[in-house]
Amino acid sequence: MRGVTPILAAILVLISLVHQSNGDCYMHNPRGSNNRLNERSANRNNANRLFDSQNNNRGGYNTGDKTDDPFTEETEIYYMNYFQSGSVGRSFLTAEWTNQHGCGGSDNNDPHKLNCQIVIQYTCQAEPEAVNNDIAAGSDDTLDVLRDGKETNTQDYTAPDNLNENQNQYNNRRANSVSNNRGLHETFGYYDDCYVRERNSGLFLADQIINSGQFAGLGYAGARFTRQNPNANRRGYECPEERDYYPYWHPTPWRDVAVLVDDTDRCSYYQSESFNVKPKYLCREKFEGTEIYRDTSKWNNEAECIANAGEWLDFYNYLEIDEGRNQANCENDNNDQITRKWARPYPSITPSCLILLQEPDCQQAGWTRVNHLGNSRTGYPLNYTITLPYFLDQAPRRCVLRIRYNISTDDYDPWYTNSSYNEDRFNRIRSPVIQNPYVDVGSITNGALRLAINTAQFGRTFQDRSHVHMFIPRPTNAITPDTTVNMDTVDIYNVNVRGKRGNIVQVYPAVEYDFIPNRLYITENDIVHFQWTGSNTHNNQNPAGDGQAGDAGEGRGGTDRHNIVEIANADMNYPVPFHNSTLFKSAQVVWYDMSTYDEINLIPSLEESKKNLALLLSSVGYYQCFTGCATDSVENKETLNNLLDNAYASFSAPLLRFPAGSYNYICSRNNNFTNRSQKGLLVVRSTAPA
Ligand SMILES: *[C@@H]1O[C@H](CO)[C@@H](O)[C@H](O)[C@H]1NC(C)=O
Ligand SMILES: *[C@@H]1O[C@H](CO)[C@@H](O)[C@H](O)[C@H]1NC(C)=O
Ligand SMILES: *[C@@H]1O[C@H](CO)[C@@H](O)[C@H](O)[C@H]1NC(C)=O
Ligand SMILES: *[C@@H]1O[C@H](CO)[C@@H](O)[C@H](O)[C@H]1NC(C)=O
Ligand SMILES: *[C@@H]1O[C@H](CO)[C@@H](O)[C@H](O)[C@H]1NC(C)=O
Ligand SMILES: *[C@@H]1O[C@H](CO)[C@@H](O)[C@H](O)[C@H]1NC(C)=O
Repeated sequence: MRGVTPILAAILVLISLVHQSNGDCYMHNPRGSNNRLNERSANRNNANRLFDSQNNNRGGYNTGDKTDDPFTEETEIYYMNYFQSGSVGRSFLTAEWTNQHGCGGSDNNDPHKLNCQIVIQYTCQAEPEAVNNDIAAGSDDTLDVLRDGKETNTQDYTAPDNLNENQNQYNNRRANSVSNNRGLHETFGYYDDCYVRERNSGLFLADQIINSGQFAGLGYAGARFTRQNPNANRRGYECPEERDYYPYWHPTPWRDVAVLVDDTDRCSYYQSESFNVKPKYLCREKFEGTEIYRDTSKWNNEAECIANAGEWLDFYNYLEIDEGRNQANCENDNNDQITRKWARPYPSITPSCLILLQEPDCQQAGWTRVNHLGNSRTGYPLNYTITLPYFLDQAPRRCVLRIRYNISTDDYDPWYTNSSYNEDRFNRIRSPVIQNPYVDVGSITNGALRLAINTAQFGRTFQDRSHVHMFIPRPTNAITPDTTVNMDTVDIYNVNVRGKRGNIVQVYPAVEYDFIPNRLYITENDIVHFQWTGSNTHNNQNPAGDGQAGDAGEGRGGTDRHNIVEIANADMNYPVPFHNSTLFKSAQVVWYDMSTYDEINLIPSLEESKKNLALLLSSVGYYQCFTGCATDSVENKETLNNLLDNAYASFSAPLLRFPAGSYNYICSRNNNFTNRSQKGLLVVRSTAPA
């Protein structure tokens, strides 16, 4: 607080508190939560639930329900199941988002109005055996498990009083903070380390003031204080310093997928500095009198770490731990294409045989105009097709996808301006940018003009994240021994549904329903996985913030429902009857989950199987057969509501293959020609030589 009176400091703190979030980056597939969980209101309950989005309170989608009832337990939440890539075949997932301030197109013919990067990452955990999809048990083992939670409060956090706590004190603090009922994307230990580690004091703060009154017991500023977060607000267990800067200089739980930039000259920097390919360091210390390492250390650099009896340790990011290998046989194997290293998998101190990651993809970001949440110039939504990872152990993972949208100006050099330029009147240093400055433009002789500049947001990061989803291993066998489908080598395309219930103004800044990708071009060899999730509580009621409440749509209020029925061409809205179907009659069922659909027979050799498939997709799994099956037959089960109200909100279809042709389909409930289109197109190319 050099050179600033306490009263002025207090006023500045107040000013930064009342600044409204109003920027934005919203992910639409996978459904971005924007910190929502299951709210019936248009506004989210808690902008601090899991991460700092800096987005409007109305954005985001609820997590999915498994059934036609709102979930009350975590086990009743539908986690999307995306099949992992095989050792050869790839699995594709299209991420789609909107970003408000423009990006892309930095070449000279196409200059933009800011500097920007979009960073796409995911975090995954091996599914702990103890969890078994039920973390309600609340044992110590489940405190770090990724989850959506069933209430919208932020996880608690009790800070350490001093740096000398013993392991019991630490464990108690952790156990008393973490609740199994609340969402969790980063662990308690990760945030605790961020809280305790000194902030990087070389970072540019402009004229933002980090108030020593907030240092609490430790008496110094940890990495929770940043220019964008000068009051050290906490959101979930996200580390503010890590959030604001990329690539981060310490280890993180995030794996880099892609960096989309305005200036591709910077790609080599991102690709070489990514934690995917470069180890990062932390200072580690032991609990006094033990051989057990703490999760935390004050020291953020090697010199101070060593001087204070710490160990400055390198940690590696990794895809997977190869449990089958020891130090001797970890690296010296050239039989497969996999790069292994005997190293420390963050956050573990103990080395293992790690399967390493590739450098992230880096590309020019799709061009978008400013002040607009819309498509790219191509007329298509901003999107990135993620090739999902292949895990050697063929075990499921729970994961979260994260997108950050980072914008900065050229009023100062955003890459080289550091703390030497922080506002410091006492030493006569003026920050190159200051809060709401008055400027003399020369033409007005008796006054000045005021600019709207918030230095906490002059250079600002927005974020959205998915709910928890699973990357599951592919089935080992196609269901039909007579086919030539090799489940390891085929490519799998995910087709999902984006959007939520309501009309265009009611859902904004989220979007209305559509299939995603709504036009998919594949070959006869490829497999399509139709899958979607929906909520039963998208009522979009008040409080509705600065938008409209309401959930216009068909069927029961608040509910998302989808199905697939065929139409003859994209201009039409009446479905074709089964006897005119090409989609269902030609689809080949490659695999389906026989434990979920245990009454239906989709074995292709069976005459009825085509009709059964049409039944399954149009009734969203509500019916499994026409007659003869015990519980889910058209004959015996309570009639399916004609707007799908009593069908389930989430659905995973059988894996399908199609012969060459074009197939058009709609959702019979939501498609309403004059105000809502939910139509998909699938174009399949022949692989036969021309
Ligand atoms: C800031 O950067 C300049 C070089 O541009 C360097 O000389 C100076 O040491 C840096 N200051 C800090 C605090 O890192
Ligand atoms: C955002 O851009 C600034 C440069 O203006 C950079 O220092 C920072 O690391 C970037 N943060 C992210 C999350 O990309
Ligand atoms: C993704 O963006 C590219 C470039 O704009 C576009 O060609 C493609 O069709 C888009 N994909 C989807 C699924 O919208
Ligand atoms: C279409 O719009 C009308 C009024 O504009 C509304 O009453 C109706 O619910 C809408 N349909 C859907 C599918 O939302
Ligand atoms: C639908 O099938 C009927 C009877 O099989 C046939 O007469 C009719 O031409 C078909 N319509 C279309 C559009 O293919
Ligand atoms: C479909 O949209 C039209 C036009 O907005 C609206 O008048 C109509 O009520 C909607 N249909 C239904 C069944 O909601």
